[in-house]
Amino acid sequence: MRNISPSILSANFKEIYNHIKLFESLGISRLHLDVMDGNFVPNLTFGPIVIRSIREHTSLHLESHLMITNPHNYIKDYAIAGSDTIIIHQEASKDVIDDLKRIQDYGKLSGIAINPNTSEEILHPIIPYLDYILIMSVHPGFGGQKFIESTLIKMNKIVKLVKNQNILVSVDGGVGLDTISNIYKTGVDITVVGSALLNSNNIKNNYKNLLNV
Ligand code: DX5
Ligand code: ZN
Repeated sequence: MRNISPSILSANFKEIYNHIKLFESLGISRLHLDVMDGNFVPNLTFGPIVIRSIREHTSLHLESHLMITNPHNYIKDYAIAGSDTIIIHQEASKDVIDDLKRIQDYGKLSGIAINPNTSEEILHPIIPYLDYILIMSVHPGFGGQKFIESTLIKMNKIVKLVKNQNILVSVDGGVGLDTISNIYKTGVDITVVGSALLNSNNIKNNYKNLLNV
C-alpha cells in the first residue's frame, strides 16, 4: 500500500497552512505531527495548541506522534486538541495497555511507536489494544536523519505478525527516494516522510516521485 503521511517537523512554519492545502490538493489523506518534550527526546517541538489550530484548518487525518515521557498524563489534551490517531512510545509509557485503552476511551485510534532498538516481541501482549504501529527507522528526535536499514527486517516481521488484524503498520524516519522502494516491498501501510518531501521547493514533484518510485 502506498500512503504517504507528511511529517511537518521539517516544514517552514510560516508555510504550514499552504503546505496543508497543497497536501489536500494532492490527495494526501494524513498528516504526521511530531510532538517532542525535550525529555524523552533531546528536542522540543509543539503541543496541543498547535494541533488544535491545525485541526481547525483541515480535515486530514491527524496522527499525533507523542515523543514524550509518561504520555498517560497528556492523552486527554491531544485527544481534545483534535488528534485522530494518538501514538505513544512503548519506551516512554509506564503502562502501555492502560495508555492504549485510554486513547481508545477518548474515541481515538491507538498507536504504539517502537524505536530501532526495541524488539517487535513487545507487541504480542498489546495487539488487542492496537489500531496502529509506528516502526521507527531512525532514533527519534530529529528530521533528516539516515534510514536504519536493519529496521526493514522488523517491518517484514510486524507486517506478518498483524496480517488481517485491522492494524495499520507505518514507518517513520529517513524515508526518501533511496529507501522507499525497499520499504514498500515490506508491505507496510503508511510511510511517514518529512525532509524528503518538504526540503525543496517542489513538494508536488517530490510527492509524485516518492509515490511512483
Ligand atoms: C523523528 C520523527 C519523524 C521525522 C521524519 O523523531 O518522528 O517523524 O520527523 O522526518 P524525516 O522523514 O526527515 O526523517
Ligand atoms: Zn514521527
